[in-house]
Order: sequence, then structure tokens, then C-alpha cells
Amino acid sequence: MVNNLAGRRAVVTGGTRGIGAAIVRKLSEAGATVLTTARSANATDLPPGVLFTTADVTDPDSVRRLADEATRRLGGVDILVNNAGGGAARPGGYSDIDDKTWQDILETNLLGAVRLDRALVPAMVERGSGVVVHISSSSAHVPVGALLHYSAAKGALSTYSKGLAEEVAAKGVRVNRVSPGMTETPAVAGVIADIAAATGGSRDDARATLVESIGGIPIGRTGTPDDIANLVAFLVSDEASWITGADYVIDGGMLKAS
Ligand SMILES: NC(=O)c1ccc[n+]([C@@H]2O[C@H](COP(=O)([O-])OP(=O)(O)OC[C@H]3O[C@@H](n4cnc5c(N)ncnc54)[C@H](OP(=O)(O)O)[C@@H]3O)[C@@H](O)[C@H]2O)c1
Repeated sequence: MVNNLAGRRAVVTGGTRGIGAAIVRKLSEAGATVLTTARSANATDLPPGVLFTTADVTDPDSVRRLADEATRRLGGVDILVNNAGGGAARPGGYSDIDDKTWQDILETNLLGAVRLDRALVPAMVERGSGVVVHISSSSAHVPVGALLHYSAAKGALSTYSKGLAEEVAAKGVRVNRVSPGMTETPAVAGVIADIAAATGGSRDDARATLVESIGGIPIGRTGTPDDIANLVAFLVSDEASWITGADYVIDGGMLKAS
């Protein structure tokens, strides 16, 4: 795939592990200058040339500092990938999710992106060009039982993303969302390890149990961070110049309708 991002300046949140790390690598390999962020400083594993600053997307002051620093160090932002997110399972279901848990999940998966967009998209609009990607989840379409709060937060992110896309489309800014299914990042590997430890079975058995619990994956395997990053790298490129307001479910065929 021709995917030249030379000269583009990109911000990727949550780029030290998993899907975010793969996105950072792909955009960097395609020629973009990338600045990434996470709560804990772990910049030693980043590809050469990738910039890093510590930030917590749930903290409004931290997001403001991130936006200022990105604008200053990169000289402007052409590509913004809101990837940071996630949430712990609540096996007890809806009645096990208290207000604090709801607030935390919304801060992490919705409001962090909303604030960063509010800080960085105006300059894109002024310049008449820019691309934003929101990493949502297949659970935004079909809620996962023990992740009801997370699924609802991703659903809100997806609706917000669609609305933002409409608002800025005529100003030359594209906004899309990518909704992964089960992707084997450190977060998911940890869940698999927990199941294996609890059942005394192998990791393969634990993975099979987890896949079965979400209804199976027709293509026969879980996703890799690179599967998701390849799609993001396409969406931020000029090859996707007529794509905005779209939601790409990438889940090995799990969702039958959305
Ligand atoms: N893996 C899946 O199966 C899957 C499926 C659907 C959607 N997703 C979504 O894909 C995205 C990436 O998931 P992942 O599985 O790659 O997660 P991960 O392995 O847990 O990595 C998350 C990354 O985000 C950073 N991060 C977490 N909370 C943050 C915060 N409050 N502020 C700044 N950075 C933060 C982490 O670093 P620190 O901990 O140091 O901050 C890390 O770099 C998330 O939005 C997730 O909801 C994942």
C-alpha cells in the first residue's frame, strides 16, 4: 500500500503499549513525525525519532499541557489519534458499577478525547486540513456483559465522533472511528493469563474460552495490534481523502450487523 505520511505531524495517545504502540510505529514508518503520550514514562521502547511526553487524558490540565507541548514541539498537528482508553471488567453487571466507576470510564474513554479534540481541532479547521481518528470498540455496537460501562462509554465516543465529523467536514478536517474486536494487546493477554491461572488450563484454552464468551471470531483468530494500526495508517493518509464520519469495525467478522 502506498502510504506516504512524510512531513505529517501526528499525536497518538496511549502509544507505549498495544494498539497505540503499533499505530505509533506504522505512522512513523510511513514518514510522519509522531509525538505520543501515556501516564507512565516508558519512552525507552519507542521507535527512534518518536517524541514522548507524560500525560493523563483523564486530567483536563494534563490534556491542555499535552496539546500545547505537541503544538510547540511539532509546529502544529495534522493527525490526531485518540487511542488511550480501556476499563476493568465488572463481573457483577450493572448493579456493580458505582458512580465513581462510571465517571472514571467516561473520563478515560470519552472526555479525554473530547478535550484533546477541543484543543487541537480548531487549528486544523483554521488551516483547512487535518485528520482525527477515535479508537472505539466493537462493544460500542454490541455491549459486552462485564464491560457495560466501557461499552456505553465507547458508544458515546462513537456518537460524538460522528457528530464532530459532520461539523468539521466542510472545513477540510476528516474524523473517523475504528472499532476493534478482541485484539491481543498486553491488556487482553493479562485477561487470558488470569483465566489460565484461575482454571489451571493452558493459555490457548483460556483464549478459546474468552473468544467463546464473545460469540466466536469467524476468521479463526484474535486480532493483532498491527491489524488495527494498518487500518489507522490508511485512514489518516490521503488515500482515504473521501472518508469521513465512518466507523470501521475490525473484528475478524464477529459482529454480524452494526
Ligand atoms: N485490546 C482490545 O481487545 C481492544 C478492543 C477494542 C477497543 N480497544 C481500545 O483500543 C485502545 C487501546 O487498547 P489496548 O488494548 O492497546 O490498551 P493497553 O494495552 O492497555 O494500552 C493502553 C495505552 O494507553 C495508555 N493509557 C491508558 N490510560 C491512559 C490515560 N488515562 N492517559 C494517557 N494514557 C493512557 C497506556 O499507558 P499508561 O498505562 O502508562 O498510561 C498504554 O500506552 C483503547 O482505547 C481500548 O479501549 C482495545
